[in-house]
Amino acid sequence: MILGIETSCDETSVALVSDIGGRLEIHAHLIASQIEAHRPYGGVVPELATRQHLARLDPLVERLLQESGMTLPGLSGIAVTRGPGLASSLLIGLSYAKGLALASGKPWIGVNHMEGHLVSPFLAGGQPPEFPHLALIVSGGHTLLVEVRGPGNYQVIGTTLDDAAGEAFDKVAKLLGLDYPGGPEIEKHARDGNPAAVDFPRSMLDSGDLNFSFSGLKTAVRIFKGKHPEFPLADLCASFQQAVIDVLAGKARKALRLTGCHTLALSGGVSCNRALGQAMERMAAADGVRFLSADRILSTDNAAMIAAAGLLRLRAGQTSPWDLDVDPNLRLAVGAP
Ligand code: KG4
Ligand code: ZN
Repeated sequence: MILGIETSCDETSVALVSDIGGRLEIHAHLIASQIEAHRPYGGVVPELATRQHLARLDPLVERLLQESGMTLPGLSGIAVTRGPGLASSLLIGLSYAKGLALASGKPWIGVNHMEGHLVSPFLAGGQPPEFPHLALIVSGGHTLLVEVRGPGNYQVIGTTLDDAAGEAFDKVAKLLGLDYPGGPEIEKHARDGNPAAVDFPRSMLDSGDLNFSFSGLKTAVRIFKGKHPEFPLADLCASFQQAVIDVLAGKARKALRLTGCHTLALSGGVSCNRALGQAMERMAAADGVRFLSADRILSTDNAAMIAAAGLLRLRAGQTSPWDLDVDPNLRLAVGAP
């Protein structure tokens, strides 16, 4: 039974995950979202996030253990996000985890947040992680196509050259006068809109590589909005969303063909988007590829995915040294957490 701790951005989250015959099982999971605290500022305020993590983390762990009937001595280890993310927020979780590990004598491991997203589609479905597979992580900070060959064996084959997909949703929402976070707001308005109303650019779709760029699309929306201030918001949202979906699905299809992977796993906050999930599912079905997507609650930042990723590494005999520090720019590297 592994305790997972996540404090990399604007969610304080803790979870208990165990391995039952190769299946990763979530026993308890709590997420204290800070979205309401940051909303008035239109984005995450790092100082505010850190203070909230500090105030909430310890009571959240207490509650998790109490509600699940678990005790600290009953744990087999502690997993915590060490990057990428906001430095001061990461530090709250990492210091707390080290303290718990020191006090309890339990092994601990610093986990790459992206490795958590990678494992999230395999969590609630009762399916053990399957290798090799192609992972598409679409979050607020990252857009990554990863060939996952085995636990800890990754090849990043596509990334964004500028804005991440989630970042594009957030920035476009802001310029359309919508609330933070922008992704769910755009999706809500897009439901009543025509995705073919505006033919926004499908950036880099034919670039010959597997990289992404969403900054041009954002600019295209800004220019269009400037020229047509009265254009229906629903049509704008639906057309923007469709452009993002077409690029993500197009690149994922290319990556599947290139790698020969038969499984596609979608994760990260943007995978909450139903239209994106449906487009990916259709594309995968047409190509005879198995499609997995993380449950909604496991798509955005959460500690269950961190506990699961940590569990796989602790089970493989890896632990972290006491002097391991946070790394706000941590990359997904082969073999290293
Ligand atoms: O993975 P995540 O929770 O945090 C990071 O690690 O970045 O992703 C947050 C991102 C935000 O940019 C948010 O706007 C986006 O996920 N997002 C969505 C939706 N729900 C969240 N984007 C599009 N459609 C959604 N329904
Ligand atoms: Zn994330």
